Amino acid sequence: MKGNEIRKRFLEFFKDRGHTIQPSRSLIPEDPTVLLTIAGMIPFKPIFTGEIKSDLKRVVTSQRCLRTNDIENVGKTARHHTFFEMLGNFSFGDYGKKETIRWAWEFLIKELKIPKERLWVSVYEEDEEAFDIWHKEEKVRRDRIVRLGSEHNFWAIGPTGPCGSCSEVIYDRGKKYSCGRPTCGVGCDCDRFLEVWNLVFMEYNRDQEGRLRPLPRKNIDTGMGLERLAMILQEKENTFDTDFLKPIIDYTASLSGVGYGPDRIKDLALRIIADHMRAIVFLIYDGVLPSNVGRGYVLRRIIRRALSQGRNLGLAKPYLHKLVSIVIDIMKEPYPELSKDKEHMERIVLGEEKRFLETLEQGMKVFDDLLIHLLREKRKEISGEKAFELYDTYGIPIDLTQEVAAEHNLTLDKRGFDMAMEEQKKRGRMAWQEIGQSRVKTIYNRLAKELKATRFKGYDRTTLKAEILAIIKTDKRVKKAKAKDEIDIILDITPFYPEAGGQTGDSGTITKRGTRIEVLDTQRPLPEIIVHRAKIIKGSIRKGDKVEAGINIGKRLATTRNHTATHLLQGALKRVLGRHVRQTGSFVSSDRLRFDLTHFAPLTDEQLSRVEEMVNEKIRKNVKVEVSMMDLKEAKKRGAIFLVGEKYGKRVRTVKIGDFSLELCGGTQVEATGEIGLFKLVSESGIAAGVRRIEALTGKGACRFMKEI
Ligand code: GLY
Repeated sequence: MKGNEIRKRFLEFFKDRGHTIQPSRSLIPEDPTVLLTIAGMIPFKPIFTGEIKSDLKRVVTSQRCLRTNDIENVGKTARHHTFFEMLGNFSFGDYGKKETIRWAWEFLIKELKIPKERLWVSVYEEDEEAFDIWHKEEKVRRDRIVRLGSEHNFWAIGPTGPCGSCSEVIYDRGKKYSCGRPTCGVGCDCDRFLEVWNLVFMEYNRDQEGRLRPLPRKNIDTGMGLERLAMILQEKENTFDTDFLKPIIDYTASLSGVGYGPDRIKDLALRIIADHMRAIVFLIYDGVLPSNVGRGYVLRRIIRRALSQGRNLGLAKPYLHKLVSIVIDIMKEPYPELSKDKEHMERIVLGEEKRFLETLEQGMKVFDDLLIHLLREKRKEISGEKAFELYDTYGIPIDLTQEVAAEHNLTLDKRGFDMAMEEQKKRGRMAWQEIGQSRVKTIYNRLAKELKATRFKGYDRTTLKAEILAIIKTDKRVKKAKAKDEIDIILDITPFYPEAGGQTGDSGTITKRGTRIEVLDTQRPLPEIIVHRAKIIKGSIRKGDKVEAGINIGKRLATTRNHTATHLLQGALKRVLGRHVRQTGSFVSSDRLRFDLTHFAPLTDEQLSRVEEMVNEKIRKNVKVEVSMMDLKEAKKRGAIFLVGEKYGKRVRTVKIGDFSLELCGGTQVEATGEIGLFKLVSESGIAAGVRRIEALTGKGACRFMKEI
């Protein structure tokens, strides 16, 4: 049975049992607290925890997943992967253990006709109910049901979050595959007893203190590795020989001129490359680019691991990018969109290959010198510090250092390396704290608790009557202030937009009879309070004073024009460059706009001119800009663009410009695009690997620029 057929059979089976088939979601979870989609249940986490109310009761998916915790095992065992697909059926407070177990058994035995004799079952040692269902209802022999402790049969998403006891179906591949240890049995980590399907009875949420709290409803979350199932049904020795991975191995083998089978080291390399290649393709497909942080680092590490394996196959030149199309061929049936991104993916991979090979070459020279030195001195170990330097400066992965060390009979101080790594992370954290946020925060934390939240009315008002609730001078609360004082003012209500979402804060004036205060900037140190950074020009103020707050309208309008223009710019970039384009940052002030985006190469003159023309065309059409509040879920359903990693509330503000752009955004917007007047790109540059920066002008600024050139 072809792999694609197995996926289809699974989805249909559960569809027939009242489940809605949902498409796989991205490897980048919507939940910003989770780095990667590591299981089929990740997209449903907020439904399990009760954070989101949903009408869904039964869902079935084949979810693309990525795990790095097993990366060292990939290729060595018959079954471990970084990228894989997880087949799963889910119940949100609907059916329970009985149906879950019955359907799992029915699917494996009746639908797929896997011989019963091959299967074992494990249950959580305290779960009598599950034991009874397997034994009494499904007639599984007692001696085929194994009770295991929480290390095996209690599944959790992570240290905190939804979790519950579980029951697993295990496929016995026969004695031949056993590790031979006397303890080898169900639960052994060797290649004999293959965990096929994990049925999780999701009933708890683990809180920060480690306590288990019952979830509002009892749920079901199951997960079955599609590649493992294919291995059983296609009667293969391992997952790498299934039609999901074998074509990648064959192609790489043909590229390098080596065969698959005779040589342990070469076979391992071929398997690692095949596994990693799928991860690479899907990470890039989901918008990740190689970098030194977060998901970008996961991708970089996987590309580099795969690439260094090429050495074992005699592949010295970039070759990984040639495998992109092989992966697409295998996966295009469930993912028809993959083909559209082929060139983009090939470019990213090739770019990273070249970059890595260059640095590696330099690094290897340094490494060689180090080895000569160590061997001459008859030393036995590479220090953690040196290994870290090789990694940090030259990108030599620790696995590679370890391998080369072993080739020369040297050991590696891995602990020292880990410590150096931790040190570096700590330095990073400190650098952030040094900006003095904590001290300022204390006073605002206190004020936020004490005062009512500032009401922001600046979307439709430019002046307002307000009351002074607090005055802060050099981080201390004061009752009054006089001319020349530089102070922070908190009002009960304000038209001043506080800096957020890349848009700079408003400036303007706060006045009362005989007093004039200039507001230089507006900030929102905490969600509840808006702070006006101000200087008293004339007169004095006291807490409780009634004042008139008015923004600098000209400046606000110019900023607003630039803001709406960034939405148009993003829409145009996606159309001209492709759907991989993502905003990584933006800065919108009254005199210019800056937009950072993910893209692998400098934009050509032709692309830039098409982008500029497209934006100006939308301006000439004077498209209405519609701002509305809606549920986050609804916004996502409509395909709104949101920032990866940003935390959004349940209700979100969306900005829609015809059918050209839909974004979640809290900034100020023009009423119709014609107000922008003119859009002029002024610069394009690279600011990091795979990140480009565009600067542009609108309105008066753009006109002035045109006159000057
Ligand atoms: N969520 C179940 C599993 O990952 O095994």
